[in-house]
Amino acid sequence: MTHRTVAIGGNWKMNLSRREAVELARAVAASLSDLEAPVQVTLYPPFPYLIPVGEALAGSPVRLGAQDLHPAASGAYTGEVSAAMLRDIGVVSVLTGHSERRHDIGETPEFVGRKTHAALSAGLETVLCVGELLEEREVGRTEEIVIAQLDAGLSGVTADLASRLIIAYEPVWAIGTGRTARPGDAQAVHAAIRSWVREQMGDRVAASLRIEYGGSVKPATAPGLASEPDIDGFLVGGASLSADDFHEIIRAAVAARSPVSP
Ligand code: PGA
Repeated sequence: MTHRTVAIGGNWKMNLSRREAVELARAVAASLSDLEAPVQVTLYPPFPYLIPVGEALAGSPVRLGAQDLHPAASGAYTGEVSAAMLRDIGVVSVLTGHSERRHDIGETPEFVGRKTHAALSAGLETVLCVGELLEEREVGRTEEIVIAQLDAGLSGVTADLASRLIIAYEPVWAIGTGRTARPGDAQAVHAAIRSWVREQMGDRVAASLRIEYGGSVKPATAPGLASEPDIDGFLVGGASLSADDFHEIIRAAVAARSPVSP
């Protein structure tokens, strides 16, 4: 049994209307009341819905997260949003390095590193996403790619700042494709991530760091993945748009970490 609290994120990406977003947030908050074990649940709505979703979550344990930020504190950055602005409206967590931003928008590993450092320094929990492409996995480069993303993504991040860090391992070939990594394959990468963190930042950070798995997590695949020792939760895309599926995934993750009653 590990002491790490299970962490589950719902990454809504560019989906939902304002009304649907508020309704889904309310449904997720209401569904958590039957869970006894500790769990940390965070929703990542699109920017325009952060405030109404935050209002819908008020008084519930569900946390408000943002999908992106700019590394600068303020200034002439048209269309961008700073860590301070996010904190100002009640955001406590932010994603960096998501593969859709790396590969579709063209964010470089260095830019991801600046965002991660800025977010952690501003006091935000930061979920740094890493993961390999299918062609990289097929030629056996998975660990090398993931470690290079960690190296650039965590440049300048001290053990102190890393107390607010979560890492999400999201193999790119599994995101939105319906293909989930096999539990043993995901576990191997999670263990490699934790040992890299141990080498760089020491035992204490490595032991408390949550490493989420992401990539087509569904109610059917969550239990097997969650029972792996280094998988501490999930970052869920498509299935987080259904309150029922998201709830099933949360239950599976919590159940896998709960002690079996005598
Ligand atoms: P998916 O997305 O669950 O739809 O594959 C996961 C993610 O991109 O975080």
